[in-house]
Amino acid sequence: MSSAAAVTPASGDAPPPPRVHRLLLTGAAGGLGKVLRERLVPYAEVLRLSDIAGMAPADSAAEEIVPCDLSDKVAVDALVKGCDAIVHLGGVSVERPFEEILEANIKGVFHLYEAARRHGVKRVIFASSNHVIGFHKQTETLDAHCQRRPDGNYGLSKSFGEDVAQFYFDRYGIESVSIRIGSSFPEPLNRRMMSTWLSYRDLTTLIGKSLFTPDVKHTVVYGMSANKDVWWDNSAAAHLGYVPRDTSEVFRAKVEAQPPVAPTDPNAIYQGGGFTAQGPFGD
Ligand SMILES: NC(=O)c1ccc[n+]([C@@H]2O[C@H](COP(=O)([O-])OP(=O)(O)OC[C@H]3O[C@@H](n4cnc5c(N)ncnc54)[C@H](O)[C@@H]3O)[C@@H](O)[C@H]2O)c1
Repeated sequence: MSSAAAVTPASGDAPPPPRVHRLLLTGAAGGLGKVLRERLVPYAEVLRLSDIAGMAPADSAAEEIVPCDLSDKVAVDALVKGCDAIVHLGGVSVERPFEEILEANIKGVFHLYEAARRHGVKRVIFASSNHVIGFHKQTETLDAHCQRRPDGNYGLSKSFGEDVAQFYFDRYGIESVSIRIGSSFPEPLNRRMMSTWLSYRDLTTLIGKSLFTPDVKHTVVYGMSANKDVWWDNSAAAHLGYVPRDTSEVFRAKVEAQPPVAPTDPNAIYQGGGFTAQGPFGD
């Protein structure tokens, strides 16, 4: 991966961020993909945007649009060829029947790392999730080494993705950062998200740190802003130098104007909230 700055700053300007040549962003048509399509521009000379869903056409020579179904091994191999680093957001992002999760998330992440191995990609940022640890209680504080307690098919697939990331580092030296994203939306939507919220600005900063910090091996980091009441301890990922700048506190009055959540509601008990009570499917 090239990290050479491509532009010489004018005297007195902040230096430009380091850049990779071609950065692949999967899930580019999704909620976070659309946000990062704009915000990752400074980090890459060429942004290759991919999704199974429709995407807006390329708006410059610095964008490449490559539709791809992550469950298609041959298509994923072609997608990854020529890329220097990957931000992997693509997949099913909610709780769904296993067959759907299997195709997009489980086969998808495996195909992606296999293609990275074949084509010499050395850094992958994996959009993991708090649902990997969703059955821990909200009274617990977790670090990156805690027991995983996935809260459904979706959480299981993200747990598998983290294992794939570790395996491809141990076996092939491909470095990854697995970001256990909390809740990344314009603002926290409920009381639980007062703890789990991750602003788009902080998400972008965290991805930048994950792309360019040397020697990350496989690092697991919790994707959260500088919220007041948090359940996660990021000290094991301190080497990333991630310092969040936003906080959910500014939305507290608005969120607490909502009706209270019953103490027996999973949203008040478990870190994964309502995901812990979804399914089973197909009975
Ligand atoms: N937004 C959050 O708060 C949050 C929290 C935790 C984890 N995440 C993870 O971050 C990533 C992005 O989240 P999001 O909120 O933008 O989700 P999203 O559902 O809006 O976007 C996911 C994208 O993946 C695409 N996709 C689904 N199946 C695919 C397939 N088979 N092949 C190719 N593309 C496929 C979808 O079309 C969609 O555009 C996801 O992996 C999600 O699990 C997000």
